[in-house]
Amino acid sequence: MCGIIGYCGHRPAVPLVVEGLRRLEYRGYDSAGVSFVQGGRLSVIRAEGKLSGLEKKLESQHVFSATSGMGHTRWATHGPPVEKNAHPHLDHSGRLAIIHNGIIENYQEIKTELAQKGVEFRSDTDSEVLVNLIAHCLKDTGGDVTRAISKALSRVEGAYAIVVMSVDHPGTLWATRVASPLVMGVGTGENFFGSDIPAFLPYTRDVVFLEDGELVRITASSWEVMETASLKPVEKKVNHINWDVQAAEKGGHKHFMLKEIFEQPKVIRDCLLGRISQQGGQVRLPELDELPVPERLHIVACGTSYHAGLWGMYLLEKYAGIPVQVEIASEFRYRDPILPKNGVVLAISQSGETMDTMAGIKLAKGRGLPVIGLCNVVGSSISREADYVVYSQAGPEISVASTKAMCSQLAALLLLTLYWGRRSGRMAEDDCARMLRELQAMPQMLEEALPGLRAKAQRLARHYAEATSFLYLGRGPSYPLALEGALKLKEISYIHAEGYAAGEMKHGPIALIDPHFPTFAIALDDEFFPKVKSNLVEVQARAGEILALTNEGLDLAVEQPWTLPRASGPLAAFVILPAVQLFAYEMADYLGKDVDQPRNLAKSVTVE
Ligand code: F6R
Repeated sequence: MCGIIGYCGHRPAVPLVVEGLRRLEYRGYDSAGVSFVQGGRLSVIRAEGKLSGLEKKLESQHVFSATSGMGHTRWATHGPPVEKNAHPHLDHSGRLAIIHNGIIENYQEIKTELAQKGVEFRSDTDSEVLVNLIAHCLKDTGGDVTRAISKALSRVEGAYAIVVMSVDHPGTLWATRVASPLVMGVGTGENFFGSDIPAFLPYTRDVVFLEDGELVRITASSWEVMETASLKPVEKKVNHINWDVQAAEKGGHKHFMLKEIFEQPKVIRDCLLGRISQQGGQVRLPELDELPVPERLHIVACGTSYHAGLWGMYLLEKYAGIPVQVEIASEFRYRDPILPKNGVVLAISQSGETMDTMAGIKLAKGRGLPVIGLCNVVGSSISREADYVVYSQAGPEISVASTKAMCSQLAALLLLTLYWGRRSGRMAEDDCARMLRELQAMPQMLEEALPGLRAKAQRLARHYAEATSFLYLGRGPSYPLALEGALKLKEISYIHAEGYAAGEMKHGPIALIDPHFPTFAIALDDEFFPKVKSNLVEVQARAGEILALTNEGLDLAVEQPWTLPRASGPLAAFVILPAVQLFAYEMADYLGKDVDQPRNLAKSVTVE
């Protein structure tokens, strides 16, 4: 999410760090900052908003003599995007600075403990807690920074990539990671840290990929990797990469869309971070604790976010017992809808800027209904307008076609369902705990499945390259995914596609079926399978060819079966989603379309 760069070498560090931050801009940010040691002082300079704000501030400073430094672009997770929350953060004595990407789950308890010892905090961030914890541990390690970091991190739960700088060791930087990206660049007389390779690509292509639980200390002329917990040395391989800057931004993938599809396991992990109780059986959403469990819910959204909302309806009704209406925002805002006083509006938006969704919120607020925003972009207009905000925590989404954001919305909607289902007593503790376990296991299952799904999508794209129309069919919670599959295909490959509820097909679209009009069906091993199967028999009776997402062992004879790993109940959505996304991606790529920037579309739709 955030962009990180650290440098120890022989060049002026601050301009190099700022330039590195510029190359990480594609990750998105809301504030930026640098730190460096000069004249025996540890300086931190930060600015809200775009990088140019930071550059402007730096113009008036004499920052050219420091040859080590670090910088950060922030994508807010804790606290609003204002200067005091921007990184780097200093400990309260001003001797250590930290930049941090990730979320410290137990920061509140550590903060309370440090506050009792007299530490004063200047920001709302978990990162400031962490740097103070390290500073606190320095007392026990006789000023040894490496050991203090190791000691502090033994207490920390969560995901992080950090770089630490000390006024007492101006030419040294430390970095470590758990479940957040961090790489090291090895140069001649200079070494680098980056959240991503582009941070230092103009200076070196020799890269060390750091693993979770590894701690690194660099100077201009040395680097050493050790285990964070034991400080035992770890042997690492230096990899030479041939990527150009553009390929590096895409993590070696051909397009951002593909990168983002492959990020979905991490997106699920990030969405769950800090939201599952220590014992594992309960969902924690403190941002909603003051709001009573809704008696009725009106979900308002557009496009892909609307499809996520439709999927959420199936879950919220079934498991949390909440009556749900899902509304296309552009219709809702002009419909004069009946909004009973006991209702709550849930507005879903990746960008948090969609004008129609925003107008829906204003309408609901005008009628006195509380509004929850489920947004990805922290500090966005919708997140500010809503009374309550739940962040989906997908990280910046660059490709115009939304992929990983929907995955995070599904994960958040499942969490909301379990959270309200337990609070209302509608859901048994065991059922909630079981679903959470399954959700926590999903990232690994997906990591294993994604390469195979892509290979299959590639083969299918070649097979269907001549098709000019597709009918997508699904039932129950798979119906919104059929809609999403059709939307993805049309928006990036420009092939006409319609998503339909499988049972509705016989009421009209069946007239379209012929040997040149393929059907993309979702026919998994669930309670809807027998019904979907009979709908598919109707297609076959009209000589229509069928591509079906299905599971091993099901009695289904179709031309193109695509067997997915089994996931129980609504969790299947997390496997269906990348399959439909990858099919659309491979079709568009094979047809030579501009995948990341399809014609006529914009990433955030701030017009009517
Ligand atoms: C489709 C897509 C759009 C958005 C829609 C809503 O791939 O990206 O349909 O989902 O414009 O955008 P947000 O979620 O930002 O409100």
